[in-house]
Amino acid sequence: ALVLLIALAFGYLLGSVPFGLLLTRFAGTKDLRSIGSGNIGATNVLRTGRKDLAAATLVLDALKGTVAVLVARHFAGESAAMAAAVGAFLGHIAPVWLRFKGGKGVATFLGVTIGLFWPAAIAFAVVWLGAAYYTRYSSLSALMASVATVVAAMALGNNNLAVLLAVLAILLWLKHHENIRRLLEGTEGKIGAKG
Ligand code: G3P
Repeated sequence: ALVLLIALAFGYLLGSVPFGLLLTRFAGTKDLRSIGSGNIGATNVLRTGRKDLAAATLVLDALKGTVAVLVARHFAGESAAMAAAVGAFLGHIAPVWLRFKGGKGVATFLGVTIGLFWPAAIAFAVVWLGAAYYTRYSSLSALMASVATVVAAMALGNNNLAVLLAVLAILLWLKHHENIRRLLEGTEGKIGAKG
């Protein structure tokens, strides 16, 4: 159990690095907290007008999750990899450095899924891209894609992973409560619209 706790803490530390905030502060763009949704993720970084920073935020916020999983698996096996995945996701959505006011977890959810079971990550990517193409809503695409990974893990017989991803997906949905309200009201911003 101690090794799982260490993996969880290690994942949390990595996951809690807020790349969107760091990159936009270094670049001196508008403050993420004061534009668009106020979120620290790639979607809101895009609202600064800096596509390059948005892409870097997406990649780095995902990569920290993947790295946490792969390192934990290398040193301590599959249970530790899963603990690190939970840690990284929690670190991103509730980093102690930001008084627990973190991101919505989409990129990091994808990143840990890549590390844990890449076929489920393919399901995420396909559904996200398809939904984004047709609806132009980043949030709606992420909500659908998170469910798709759970379905994919179940369909491919990876039941432990399906349970873990379902828990993370529920947290992801909870973090999107404002987006869900705006989607229902018809006031959600579309991808690339400036904040
Ligand atoms: O990546 C989070 C996305 O699903 C929604 O972001 O900034 O539109 O709330 P945002």
